[in-house]
Amino acid sequence: MAQDALPSNGVSPELLERLFESARDVATRAYAPYSNFHVGAALLTKEGRIITGCNVENSSFGVTICAERTAATRAVASGLREWTAIAIVSPTGVSPCGACRQFLAEFAPQLAVWFGHLDPSKPTVGPISMEQLLPAAMKFPS
Ligand code: THU
Repeated sequence: MAQDALPSNGVSPELLERLFESARDVATRAYAPYSNFHVGAALLTKEGRIITGCNVENSSFGVTICAERTAATRAVASGLREWTAIAIVSPTGVSPCGACRQFLAEFAPQLAVWFGHLDPSKPTVGPISMEQLLPAAMKFPS
């Protein structure tokens, strides 16, 4: 796909840099004593606000909350439900997990997604659309 056809949702390079900086900053506050895999996410809202989240692990591993869902729930609790972009950083630059894709698609099916490393000298990936990440997302029948 041509670069200009990708869904950047109008995010400028400067704004994208701020998103990645915010994601790297919040990743320093991740609670990940079990995996030692520190993740940070920064959501951009329609209003231009940046809402961040980090992963929060638990002794009962399965109840761990990913960085993306921490950011998403913080945004919703702040009354900010419309999001245009997200930047996610981790030690190895992983893409968001399936549960987080479903969670993000609930509010932002048009979200532009970027991911990268904690190390800012490493390359980033994106924009990728939610449709690319989660084709045919589950929607509750209405
Ligand atoms: N994790 C995230 O926070 N986001 C992702 O997209 C992938 C995984 C967290 C969950 C867990 O605390 C650690 O990374 C290892 O899976």
